[in-house]
Amino acid sequence: MNPIKSMLVVPAMALALWVVNAQATTDEAIAERIKPVGQVCIAGQQCTGVEAVSAAPATAARSADDIVARHCTACHTPGLLGAPKIGDSAAWKARADEQGGMDGILAKAIEGINAMPPKGTCGDCSDDELRAAIEKMSGL
Ligand code: HEC
Repeated sequence: MNPIKSMLVVPAMALALWVVNAQATTDEAIAERIKPVGQVCIAGQQCTGVEAVSAAPATAARSADDIVARHCTACHTPGLLGAPKIGDSAAWKARADEQGGMDGILAKAIEGINAMPPKGTCGDCSDDELRAAIEKMSGL
């Protein structure tokens, strides 16, 4: 190896080692930082530093009113962009008749229709939750 080349190779290797080493340090630091987040706490068991969470799914307690208030009212109260208004049963009934009933408008609500986004922005709503919200708004 000529002297010029070896002069370049040595610093390059040193740099490579340093990079690997720095990465290892960083990985350890990251693991340390995220550790508490990864801790699993089971209800009824001792769990230091973290509040035990209930085993019930967070969505179980959502009522139709909650969903409407949170996701649907912004458009369906004022009738924004042609949305059928909450309580305007005639408007909802006309739509239901057009789409073949409650199942039809539910399907449209799930996939989205014109200016209405899929699931009316409630991405984690189940079909049953959406149906309950539609029943609430339409009175059907
Ligand atoms: C961003 C505004 C917006 C939000 C939020 C929204 N909607 Fe709508 N929705 C609309 C509009 C606009 C229409 C009328 C679309 C059309 O026919 O052009 C509509 C229509 C509907 C229809 C009738 C579909 C049909 O087949 O005629 C249903 C059912 C419905 N919405 C349910 C919901 C539910 C349930 C929520 C809340 C989970 C919701 N929407 C949230 C804008 C919205």
